[in-house]
Amino acid sequence: MTTSKRIVISSDHADIPLRQTIAEHVAQQGWEVIDIGPTTPESTDYPVHGKAAAERVASGDCQLGIIVCGTGQGIMMAANKVKGIRCGVCSDTFSARMIRQHNDANMLSLGARVVGKGLALDIVDAFLAAEFEGGRHATRMEMIEPSEG
Ligand code: RB5
Repeated sequence: MTTSKRIVISSDHADIPLRQTIAEHVAQQGWEVIDIGPTTPESTDYPVHGKAAAERVASGDCQLGIIVCGTGQGIMMAANKVKGIRCGVCSDTFSARMIRQHNDANMLSLGARVVGKGLALDIVDAFLAAEFEGGRHATRMEMIEPSEG
């Protein structure tokens, strides 16, 4: 059975336990969580995981995505290279809310070496609870990446 609330989660090796905590937290809110790993702690390349998560969102398989690396920056850059992805790094709840409300972000990136677990979960909650406001913000987002058709 599929639900309409489907979210992909990935990370590099920087903090797999944080990613798993986020996955559990989000699942408790009724999301179907697609955790695409990695599952082992060996050093791995964040571009691979950022791209893989972004492709799940860009394809429509998942509505949203959350990705984690040490700073959140590298994996965010990789995700944003995928057409249709709007991903921001957030270290505060205000930014997490605003990237949904004003930037229609479909992915959130977190720096595991920047924020602690409690703040990370608050950031996730702010991101998930916010909704795109459209209007002038839609016009601006269209300026960044025009929709097809
Ligand atoms: C890995 O050590 C680290 O470079 C990565 O997690 C991330 O911070 C890159 O932006």
